[in-house]
Amino acid sequence: MLRVDLYSGEEAFRTDRTEVLRRSWQFVGHTAMAPNPGDYIAEDVGGAPVVVVRNAEGALAAFHNVCRHRAGALVADGAGHCGEAFTCRYHGWRYSLDGRLRNAVDFGAAPGFDPREFGLFPARVETWRGLVFVNLDLDAAPLSESFAPLTDLAPFPDFPLTERRSHRLACNWKTYVENYLEGYHLPMVHPEFDADVVVADYQVDIEGEVIFQWAPARDASVYAGTWAWLWPNLAINTYRHGSMIERMTAVGPEETRLDYFYFFDPARAAELAQMFEASDRVTAQDKQVCEEVQRNLSAGIYRGGVLSPKHERGVAWFQARIADAHGEPAPAKLATISA
Ligand code: FES
Ligand SMILES: [Fe+2]
Repeated sequence: MLRVDLYSGEEAFRTDRTEVLRRSWQFVGHTAMAPNPGDYIAEDVGGAPVVVVRNAEGALAAFHNVCRHRAGALVADGAGHCGEAFTCRYHGWRYSLDGRLRNAVDFGAAPGFDPREFGLFPARVETWRGLVFVNLDLDAAPLSESFAPLTDLAPFPDFPLTERRSHRLACNWKTYVENYLEGYHLPMVHPEFDADVVVADYQVDIEGEVIFQWAPARDASVYAGTWAWLWPNLAINTYRHGSMIERMTAVGPEETRLDYFYFFDPARAAELAQMFEASDRVTAQDKQVCEEVQRNLSAGIYRGGVLSPKHERGVAWFQARIADAHGEPAPAKLATISA
């Protein structure tokens, strides 16, 4: 049964962050965004600012973007270059790209202060086919374990990072994930999909922490008919001439940002425009339905319904994982219809 209480409010949101988003592999960008030593990608991961940097040896390292002096930010969010060291934006402490405190600038003689005890807090970083992921759980299983079911998803990404776009939705991130995980809504919400893929042959497969959705693509379709989703908030959508990574970023209890990263054949400008058009249209349709669902979840009348065994196995799997992460359900509150 759906835990309606998990879809709004600060408390559930905090638990989503600490028990789900900060304990799973989170996509932060592509290696092409940080090709040279000193290049970095800074991102919010489950409410924690994180920076991934390419060090002098050419390897990636990840740290919390938090200075050990008084919690200043080392770098601004986004991609950039920090040179040979991080210089805190507050009072200028300098850290080597391996996280060691190199210079507590003009600090003065402080008895007992040992700079070796003030290195940056580390995070895990791993890549898969050029995609960069971080995990704030230092004991997490390797990324390759999560991605094992995607080994046969070839070739991906087959083209350079062409474009990034973001969309804001007034709904909990899980409301959107659940929408993504079923094709049951296609005929009602995306009727033009019927011209693109054979909706009647839609199929859902769950392998490990990956949920695949398939439908045979029609000849003129921009879609390749394969959608892969990786626990807890990432999707890989394949098109006829490229692919798109979709990060479902939890911004607030009832606010989600979809961050799209398009990898597309640069020689196919016409198909790219066609794909953007299709992608934007589908997002607008899902945004409307998700925001309506969110409003109804938050209204406190709906207590949980029933899932289709034919179409919504992915949703059921996701809801079970979420319920597990949240532990015991909160005590049931009495339903009230009066104002
Ligand atoms: S907070 Fe970073 S140097 Fe003060
Ligand atoms: Fe949809």
